[in-house]
Amino acid sequence: PQAKLTDRFGRTVNYVRLSVTDRCDFRCVYCMAEDMTFLPRQQVLTLEEIARLARNFVALGTEKIRLTGGEPLVRKDILELVREVGTYGLRDFAMTTNGSQLPTMAEKLHQAGLHRLNISLDSLDSEKFRSITRTGNLQQVLDGIDAARDAGFRGIKLNTVVMKGRNDEEIPELIEFARRKQVDISFIEEMPLGEISEHDRGLALCTSEEVRDIIRQRHELIPVAKDSGGPARYYQMPDSDVRVGFISPHSHNFCSTCNRVRVTVEGRLLLCLGNEHSVDLRRVLRGNPVTDDKLQQAIIDAMDLKPERHHFSSNGEVQILRFMNMTGG
Ligand code: GTP
Ligand code: 5AD
Ligand code: SF4
Repeated sequence: PQAKLTDRFGRTVNYVRLSVTDRCDFRCVYCMAEDMTFLPRQQVLTLEEIARLARNFVALGTEKIRLTGGEPLVRKDILELVREVGTYGLRDFAMTTNGSQLPTMAEKLHQAGLHRLNISLDSLDSEKFRSITRTGNLQQVLDGIDAARDAGFRGIKLNTVVMKGRNDEEIPELIEFARRKQVDISFIEEMPLGEISEHDRGLALCTSEEVRDIIRQRHELIPVAKDSGGPARYYQMPDSDVRVGFISPHSHNFCSTCNRVRVTVEGRLLLCLGNEHSVDLRRVLRGNPVTDDKLQQAIIDAMDLKPERHHFSSNGEVQILRFMNMTGG
C-alpha cells in the first residue's frame, strides 16, 4: 500500500504543484512588480533535484503534479523534466503556462507525456492584453492555444484573472472565444500576493458573483454536480460542453477540501498559498548524505504545518509578501 500524506485536519495531500522557475517573459500586473529581481542560479533547484522531489512525492501517494512558474516554458531543458516526470505513472500531469512559447513547444510537450495545459488569457484585445501583461504579445498566445489543440491536448483550460476597469467588459467575448475553441475557462478573483504599487487591487477586485451575473445575461449557467474538490466551482451552459469555472478565494472558501501543496523553485515546501508556513526541502536535498528516506520524512513531517485555511482580505491589503511568480499560483 502506498503511503499517504495527511494533515492535522484530516485532509489528504495527493496533489503537488512544482514551480520550475521564478522567471517569466511577462510581467502581469497582478503577479509581479514592473522591476523584478530574479533568483540567482545557485538558489534555484536543478532539474534533477526537482525530479527527485517529484519522485519522492509520488512514493508518498501523490497522484497529480502540476508544473508552474513563473513561466515554466522559459526554463531551459524543461522538456527533459517533463519526459522524466511523465514516466512516474501519474493520474494527472499538467502545466500552467502563459502560452507564449506554445507555438513551438506544444507538440513537444504532448509527445513528452504531459496530459493537460492551463493557459492564462486575460484579454482578447491586443492593447489591453499588453497593458495587463506589460510585455506579452496576444497573437503569440492565441497561436499557442491553437498549437496546443493541434498537438492533441485535450483538457485545455483558460485562466482569466478578472479586474474591474481592465478586462471585466470582455467577459462575454472570452466566453464566446472558449465556446468557439472548445476549451474550458476559469475566472479568477485576484489574490493579494506581493507588494505591487502600480496596481490597486482593492479597486480592481471583481467577484465571481459579479462575473456570473454578467455571463447569465447571455447564457444559463448550470452548476456541475461533480466537484473535483479543487478551488474552482464549475458550471456548464446548456448548449455546450465547455465548462466555466470560478476560483473565488475571497468569496468562497474551499480550504476544507484542499488537497495540495506547493514547492517553490528554491525548494521551499509551501503548505498553503495564502500563508507562509513552509519547510526548506533544498537543505535536505543538498544535505550530506541525502537519502530518499530523509526527504520523504521531511515531507511527511511538514504536513503538520499545513494551516486550516487562508484569510485573504478583499481591500487589496497585502498579507503575503512573496510574489505570485514564486508560487506558481
Ligand atoms: P487544477 O490543478 O486543475 O485544479 O487547476 P487550477 O485551476 O487549480 O490551477 P491553475 O494553475 O490554473 O491556477 C488557477 C488559479 O487558481 C490561480 O490563480 C491559482 O493561484 C489558483 N489556485 C490554485 N490552487 C489554489 C489554492 O489552493 N488556493 C488558492 N487560494 N488559489 C489557488
Ligand atoms: N491572483 C490570482 N491569480 C493569479 N495568477 C497570478 N497572479 C495571481 C493573483 N495575484 C494566476 C495567473 C495564472 C495562474 C498561475 O495564476 O493568471 O493563470
Ligand atoms: Fe508570468 Fe504568469 Fe506571473 Fe503573468 S501571471 S507574470 S505570465 S508568471
